[in-house]
Amino acid sequence: MKIVLLGAPGAGKGTQAKRISERYGVPHLSAGDILRNAASARTPEGMEAAGYMDQGKLVPNEVVLSIVKSEIQRLKKGFILDGFPRTIPQAESLGTFTELDTVINIEVDFALLLKRLTGRRSCPKCGAVYHILNNPPSTEGLCDKCGTELIQRKDDNEETVKKRIDTYVSLTQPLIEYYKKKGILRNVNGNGKIDQIFQEIAELLDLILLGE
Ligand code: AP5
Ligand code: MG
Repeated sequence: MKIVLLGAPGAGKGTQAKRISERYGVPHLSAGDILRNAASARTPEGMEAAGYMDQGKLVPNEVVLSIVKSEIQRLKKGFILDGFPRTIPQAESLGTFTELDTVINIEVDFALLLKRLTGRRSCPKCGAVYHILNNPPSTEGLCDKCGTELIQRKDDNEETVKKRIDTYVSLTQPLIEYYKKKGILRNVNGNGKIDQIFQEIAELLDLILLGE
């Protein structure tokens, strides 16, 4: 199954991708996680990417493609892409080397995004994502899965979140129309509870697996 998840910053792409990956056994590829790992490893591409990410801007296409393309091409049996593509040129590029089964667009009221992102805590080791109020770990500050100390992402402050939302509106939102025209877009209401949203996504994916 080849799936793309679309949605604003904080829409729940990572949260839902992990659940989809567990249920359907399809690997989750997060462009943001790949770029953050490259930045932590201090590779030249990673260090260049970090400068853009910290400002809420998109990382230039050639840098993203140089890192993400080979990862996607390795996953011949399928993937859940989260955070890629993020612009029309990236979608066009993706279309030259793979064919998608579906694009799931998680729609969330913008008023909810700031609280979701400023309250997010992530595990730097296994990538698990929490929220201090909506989805807290069982022991404060520690990852349930691997016990590692949770961190707050550098770009999850109010000022950068606002810039990320502006970037989303101008460069990523046009992908909704792009994939709608291709007939593979499915919209999911992302305002509810995490489990409810997953239920809706799973129903869509089950239909796709059955060939609708
Ligand atoms: P990336 O890491 O992809 O960030 P993003 O798109 O801004 O999305 P987030 O990861 O912030 O949100 P999410 O939708 O995954 O939400 P989550 O599930 O964590 O990209 C970061 C940066 O990398 C970009 O700004 C850019 O610079 C660069 N980049 C990445 N890809 C690129 C590309 N292709 N091209 C160029 N540059 C690129 O949930 C958020 C919080 O809400 C969590 O705390 C979670 O617990 C909570 N939550 C989730 N669902 C719910 C719910 N239903 N109810 C209540 N709380 C919820
Ligand atoms: Mg994410």
